[in-house]
Amino acid sequence: MNSSSNAKRTRKLLISREQIAETIKRMANQIQEDYPADMPLLVGVLKGSFIFLADLVRQMQRPVEIDFIRLSSYGSDVKSSGSVRLRMGVSSLVKGKEILVVEDIVDTGLTTAYASGYLRRKGASSVKLCTLLDKPSRRQMPVTPDYLGFTVPNEFIVGYGLDFDQQYRHLPDIHVLESGTHES
Ligand code: IMP
Ligand code: MG
Repeated sequence: MNSSSNAKRTRKLLISREQIAETIKRMANQIQEDYPADMPLLVGVLKGSFIFLADLVRQMQRPVEIDFIRLSSYGSDVKSSGSVRLRMGVSSLVKGKEILVVEDIVDTGLTTAYASGYLRRKGASSVKLCTLLDKPSRRQMPVTPDYLGFTVPNEFIVGYGLDFDQQYRHLPDIHVLESGTHES
């Protein structure tokens, strides 16, 4: 899709950059309290989590290691088709480590469930989930975030790393994308 077709779509502010910053500070503090000895390995799920993870680690007062995985589901990005594929795995040693998966948003839960399964199979001693956004109304897998920023309604969300057709990731605030782009 080209930018001229996207230009017709309107967006509505949902969460401001100030609210995001305050919430991330709270989440970083909570994580550090919960891991008093060693920090977990933070595994960001690309691409959507890259901005959240960058801001989250900069609120940490202790050194923390990071890695990334990249997953994709077949079919459209808007409506999950139910089949998840690993496109890029971690390069760090996972065996025996405590892992914190860092997601932009949990929707059906299929991506997160796949990521957790992948890391457990690699021998992680624990796998927890930190997500900035949760859209629980469309859940297909029993995924519950251990650290959650905001619960969002059943709308299509963009900005702060989240895209529609690879656009809008750069926006500093979080918006609802309007004009019928999202089948519910
Ligand atoms: P799930 O597998 O359905 O839970 O979806 C997870 C992935 O789908 C997220 O990591 C996002 O990349 C993408 N996604 C789900 N909902 C939205 C949304 O509202 N806006 C942008 N991306 C979304
Ligand atoms: Mg994602």
